[in-house]
Amino acid sequence: MAITCKDNVFTLKTKNSAYQMKADRGFLFHTYYGPSVGDTDMSYLGRTIDRGFSGNPEGIDDRGFSLDTQLLEYPGYGTGDYRDYCLRVVYPDGSQVTNLKYIDHEILEGKYALEGLPAMYQGEEKAETLKITLRDIHRHVEVILYYGVFEDLDIITRACKVINKGSESVHLRRAYSMCLDFHQKDMDFIQFYGRHAMERVMERSHLHHGVQGIGSRRGYSSHQYNPFVILAKQDTTEDSGWCWGSCFVYSGNFQAEAEVSQANNTRLTMGIHDTQFDFLLEEGEAFTAPEVLLSFSSEGLGKLSRNYHKAIRQNICRGKFKNARRPILINNWEATYFGFDTDKLLEIARQAKEVGIEMLVMDDGWFGKRNDDNSGLGDWVVNETKLPGGLKRLVDGVNEIGLKFGIWFEPEMVSEDSDLYREHPDWALKVPGHSLTRGRNQLVLDFSREDVREHIFNRMCEILESANIEYVKWDANRHMTDVWSAELPPERQGEVFHRYILGLYDFLEKITKRFPNVLFEGCSGGGGRFDAGMMYYHPQIWCSDDTDAIERLRIQYGTSFAYPVSTVGAHVSVCPNHQTGRSVSMKTRGVVAMAGTFGYELDITEMSQEEKEIVKEQIEEFKKYYDLIQNGDYYRLSDDGTKSNYVAWQFVSPDQKESLLNAVVLRTKANPPFQFVYARGLKPEAIYHVEGTELNLSGAALMNGGYLLPIVTDDYEAVQIHLVECE
Ligand code: GLA
Repeated sequence: MAITCKDNVFTLKTKNSAYQMKADRGFLFHTYYGPSVGDTDMSYLGRTIDRGFSGNPEGIDDRGFSLDTQLLEYPGYGTGDYRDYCLRVVYPDGSQVTNLKYIDHEILEGKYALEGLPAMYQGEEKAETLKITLRDIHRHVEVILYYGVFEDLDIITRACKVINKGSESVHLRRAYSMCLDFHQKDMDFIQFYGRHAMERVMERSHLHHGVQGIGSRRGYSSHQYNPFVILAKQDTTEDSGWCWGSCFVYSGNFQAEAEVSQANNTRLTMGIHDTQFDFLLEEGEAFTAPEVLLSFSSEGLGKLSRNYHKAIRQNICRGKFKNARRPILINNWEATYFGFDTDKLLEIARQAKEVGIEMLVMDDGWFGKRNDDNSGLGDWVVNETKLPGGLKRLVDGVNEIGLKFGIWFEPEMVSEDSDLYREHPDWALKVPGHSLTRGRNQLVLDFSREDVREHIFNRMCEILESANIEYVKWDANRHMTDVWSAELPPERQGEVFHRYILGLYDFLEKITKRFPNVLFEGCSGGGGRFDAGMMYYHPQIWCSDDTDAIERLRIQYGTSFAYPVSTVGAHVSVCPNHQTGRSVSMKTRGVVAMAGTFGYELDITEMSQEEKEIVKEQIEEFKKYYDLIQNGDYYRLSDDGTKSNYVAWQFVSPDQKESLLNAVVLRTKANPPFQFVYARGLKPEAIYHVEGTELNLSGAALMNGGYLLPIVTDDYEAVQIHLVECE
């Protein structure tokens, strides 16, 4: 059993970790999360002393006992714990005090599901569920805490449901998904911040007294902060030391905070951001807080990442394309932007076919009045000036050439200059009579409304059914402002942000069910909604609008802490690069894009024959390494280039017989020092042949002695070293 309950001690065991809680005197205490400790009741670590100004709950005759200094599993508000809390409810009399008490629990086979929300599913893994019910004894508000235990994956999931069991309606002002308390404070907070075209930059800093946190009030998870954080002991490295990850399976506003208290405890919380969050619960109504994936590693950050990679690839991503090889595509965005027509696309397809590309994706600009980004969104009608004879003619033409066809949509948005907006101005998020805020000169449709979703859904279905479309790029190119829905009464306006995301998930569920053979790629100005929630519907997401291979090194490095390469949309683009103006070799661009879904985003008709030959070879190579890259274990072999003069990463096959080591040397130097890269994850005693050389080296040699990188004569040269175990 992965879950046990003995003497009110709940222990959740995975292969390499244990998570423990204890119900005592009516409270649910957190006692431990770390390496396995057998069946020991870890509450012996808790101590009570009178700290002063930390109040004592009625009924407990101990001035040393205060919720303010205990490790708690799901803290309410207003009863003496002054740290960050999980739940705040406003009752009809205006009071806000919630005193949660343990009521009972249930252990179930299999993994729980969350209605209307993405969550890890059981798949072929073993999984168990623990449900613990807490209740505010005075106000009859109940909280069900859900725990999913994936023993082999070293993942523990958490979510919860708040139910109003009383007869009066209440307002939920905060309902976080989880709290994780630690006895210690000497840890680092690792987070992934960024901006458009530079997402998920890893930043690590020591915890300090007070609160350290990240979040999004932008409506989506955002480019600015990814909904994934790590706490790590200060000496934790890639290969050693303790670390705890917390990954939010949600695509909207979020908050993740670590607070070090007066007693040097640390509290990590994660949940939906409470700015403009106000959920009305009438009698019997419930609110479900989205899922968090927790993982613990005592073998450093690398192992933590590999835990998440497996969980997300196998138990979050779904559908036909979760494991299937995805077509190598060419996207016309950076090739033509809005200036294309059928002839141009067919010419791209013809030349793409010659080099082995498998799919053409037609990006933005094919519909309505859309010759730039000022108009047309919402009018999902083919623009026959650009595509004479319609979509069918184009798609048939592309198919005849021998390529599959994919298309771009931005379903959640509307341009004011569109027929849709002229007909339904109230369908956009905005406050009537107020001036509004535009982003990319467009507005956000109110996806909390079913009628709005239904209209867009029907339009999308018509398009997808009108031709042989096998891929959709789903974009969302601005963040939310002026959030107010014409459909909801005043007392429910605090629900709009979350209802929007629920509406989006509902739409995605329906459209992916309706078109199971279509590959969906998520996108939000690149990686602005790159989260585990979206990955439940989209097995891959365009990682960043920055296609510069060197900038991608940093972006993909940060991305790799939680997300598997199978989810990382990455393309080779033209040089000088459109975002940075930098030029690097085709080889470097190819090696970097292979740490993702791999494809092209350039005007192939402008390429020289020589470059096309390189593309052909790259495609062959990618196909050869495909299994290794997608199903192998991923190791980071350097930092993101901030300190090191190279960025390196490695794929190792599950049987450790084969490996692909990749490095990009950043700067060429005169009289250069030698640079070694140290492999990981190989069998120490096995002998590996270094393909293309005479070298046969032991795994131990490659991991401890390292591999000597070649002396480069130009900036940003890439090496790719294929290691195969000798028979
Ligand atoms: C976003 C995407 C790009 C492209 C444009 C089209 O910025 O990230 O890849 O699709 O929109 O407008």
